[in-house]
Amino acid sequence: MVEDHGGRAAWSGGPGFVLAAIGSAVGLGNMWRFAATTSVSGGAAFVLLYLGLTLAVGLPLLLAELSLGRRMRSGPVGALRSAAGAPGLLLGGAFAASGFLIFSFYAVIAGWTVRYGVTALLSGLPSDPGAYFGEVATGWDAALYHMGFVAGTAGVVGTGIRRGIERAALLLIPFLFAVLVALAVWAAALPGAGDGFAFYLRPDWSDVLAPRTIAEAAGQTYFSMSLGMGAMLTFASYRGSGGDLPAEGTVIALSDFGVAFLAGLVIFPLVFALGFEEGVIGLEADQAEGVLFLALPAAFHGLGSLGRVLAVVFFAALAAAALTSTLSLLEVVVSTAVDELGVGRPTAAAVGGAAVAVAGLAPAHSLGVLGLLNTVAGEIMLAAGALAIAVVVGWVVPDPVAELEKGAGRRIRRLLPLWLLALRWVVTPITLLVLLLMLMEVAA
Ligand code: TRP
Repeated sequence: MVEDHGGRAAWSGGPGFVLAAIGSAVGLGNMWRFAATTSVSGGAAFVLLYLGLTLAVGLPLLLAELSLGRRMRSGPVGALRSAAGAPGLLLGGAFAASGFLIFSFYAVIAGWTVRYGVTALLSGLPSDPGAYFGEVATGWDAALYHMGFVAGTAGVVGTGIRRGIERAALLLIPFLFAVLVALAVWAAALPGAGDGFAFYLRPDWSDVLAPRTIAEAAGQTYFSMSLGMGAMLTFASYRGSGGDLPAEGTVIALSDFGVAFLAGLVIFPLVFALGFEEGVIGLEADQAEGVLFLALPAAFHGLGSLGRVLAVVFFAALAAAALTSTLSLLEVVVSTAVDELGVGRPTAAAVGGAAVAVAGLAPAHSLGVLGLLNTVAGEIMLAAGALAIAVVVGWVVPDPVAELEKGAGRRIRRLLPLWLLALRWVVTPITLLVLLLMLMEVAA
């Protein structure tokens, strides 16, 4: 068997692993949440804060997950049980549960992207995106697209790590990058694009160091980098011990940041140049789907047949980004079933997919349920999971630096004690603060 290291499935090598992990990280979170949050939270000032948090919080946490997964060679339940005994077992179970819950609402939104793309292709997007969104966002059609997306995800995950997940990332991630770069260059040349840049990046320093803004940015980092529920941990469990995890983690973190930033460079100039800025001004992060599903379709519609082509390409790229993310969400559930229950991979993917297809009926029928799942699983459970990872790797596991030293270059090895310090004294307190603020917001 090729796809094997010590009896366990494996990536073809470093690039395959890095690409799949970028695929997990880069998703709908990069395309809507980041741009919307930036525009209301300080523009360029927020971008700098977010980059700082990506490096000071996201990257140390990512390396913590990667090192634990590779060291234990197991999905979240097995890895955390080996690291922390019975409490770890519960924690791993909670991770698989968050993967399941996030998948159930995320695939509904992913279904919208497919729906928009198909409509643009077949008949063109309608002139009133508000009415259209109201029609397609909930109901049996939404449920059907959701199920189709879940079935596609299960098909790829069931095919395997290397022939399924890695190959999908290899095809889809370069496509996504190419589409975004081309659109950004094209949008920058539109007359009036400058107002969009000014709005997106207008630096406002007054709020960036407020605890709320920091918490908002950190919460966005966990979600965007797929941290706090064992997705990256699971991916690293399929990585051989020769790889340079610190270098690979840095590439993953910076790519995730880069795509989020780039998406804003597409969205704002385009929306402003075409005069649909009322659709994005003053938007809160939790109304952020308005950018993708209302303001942008309006702008595409205003461009006539060119807009129709752009809409097809753009929504195809969004769906591609979403798919490489849902692969990692389902993989956490599947690897748990394979490792702990000894179920075969295709069976686990089919059963897990069927269960998510059913669970998604609720968010597919109610935006309220969708928002609730996002808050509970996409925000609170991730922050709690991130805190748990920081504590387990920072304090419980013996000699955490040793695993990252394997395969790392000498210069990076000298920086690793700094990583442990950051994990203990930057990631842990900030994540605790984020979790408390999130809980207070829910209680209020
Ligand atoms: N990171 C993805 C995005 O930005 C979503 C995602 C995939 C995710 N896997 C995850 C989020 C695991 C949290 C945990 O869209």
